[in-house]
Amino acid sequence: MSVENLPRTIWWENGATHLIDQTRLPLQGDILVCNTYEGLISAIKSLAVRGAPALGVAGAYAMALWSQVEGRLMEDREKYLSRFTEVASEVSQARPTAINLPWGVAKIAELIEEHPDRTPVQLHELIVERANEMAQEDEAANRAMGANGAELFDGPTKFLTHCNTGSLATVFFGTALGVIFTAHDQGKVEHVWVDETRPLNQGGRLTAWELLQVGIPSALIADDMAADVMAKGWVDAVILGADRICADGDVVNKIGTYGLSVLAKEHNIPFYVTAPSSTFDLTLERGSDVEIEERDSREIEGVTISGKFDPSDDRTARALDALTAEGPCDLPMSKGHHMTLDRKGGGYSFDAWFRTTPPQVMVFNPAFDVTPAANVTAYITELGVIHNETKDPTAAIKALLE
Ligand code: MRU
Repeated sequence: MSVENLPRTIWWENGATHLIDQTRLPLQGDILVCNTYEGLISAIKSLAVRGAPALGVAGAYAMALWSQVEGRLMEDREKYLSRFTEVASEVSQARPTAINLPWGVAKIAELIEEHPDRTPVQLHELIVERANEMAQEDEAANRAMGANGAELFDGPTKFLTHCNTGSLATVFFGTALGVIFTAHDQGKVEHVWVDETRPLNQGGRLTAWELLQVGIPSALIADDMAADVMAKGWVDAVILGADRICADGDVVNKIGTYGLSVLAKEHNIPFYVTAPSSTFDLTLERGSDVEIEERDSREIEGVTISGKFDPSDDRTARALDALTAEGPCDLPMSKGHHMTLDRKGGGYSFDAWFRTTPPQVMVFNPAFDVTPAANVTAYITELGVIHNETKDPTAAIKALLE
């Protein structure tokens, strides 16, 4: 059992972007092939690919897809640049909170600016090459973060983590979970508490799965159990990731992070944020300046269950064939529940949504919250660790990034 056996999350192959469909993990590990940038935007919006560092690389691959399908065939440079700018802005805005997505797109825009004399065909080769390099750099940065973070722990440590910051949130290896993987290799992990991370259960579905694959002792808890395990003295360190870190050190991360930081402070537990330098946004002064993504109310109003039918007799197979003959088939149910059938990967898949709340209920569903810099013990990056004791995170962050 080793982290090296985890799958890569996103890659370029035969002129298309391939990714593991994380909406269906861990029960189904379908590979989604995106041939157009619009397809990749849908995958980003549905969280088939997610996690700030993975989104950075997805942004670059979206531009590579545009270039493959449209850009490289354009002859007029002015038109090329104007369309590039349009698509770049569409991709950058697919999800508003993680800075890595516009960062990844901006890296490709810089490349175009640096090569004013290249034809669209030549630019296409450069874009794909650059996006592939970014994927490799992501893995290298994660491994460096893992090494830097693991040094902070001396002996067997009981961690608590939130959301998914593992290999699946990056191209490979992970950020905060990468620190746990490295610390585990060094014999420093006693136990990991995994927050379920409602509403989409990235902790329960993805982090719990990665830790099992790597053989790290762990237990899943519902989000509202974190205070209890801290009060019992069962947590030595909280460690999680970030979607954007502002100039003053405020951390924007998965909803629930702020609450954990308050709990950690109350129980004198160190609170570590692990993120690559690409997650720092020095153009925004404080966390309240960041746009927080609000997601579909259905994520809270019910549960989604996906799976595959496994017809054992001809009659059922024929019925499923008939229903899906013309593509995905919607099966509305009573009480607002809903199911879609589809033929995927050589089988019959279903995605079902079951309402668990009253139909009239009002919902507020922010995907992220802001943790003040004052609640952070240290930021673990690939360039080094920023200890927050100075209480001047802006100066420390600038010194490290410059
Ligand atoms: O909505 P998601 O699943 O993209 O949110 C992911 C997170 O909030 C992670 O904690 C963050 O991106 C850090 S990932 C290394």
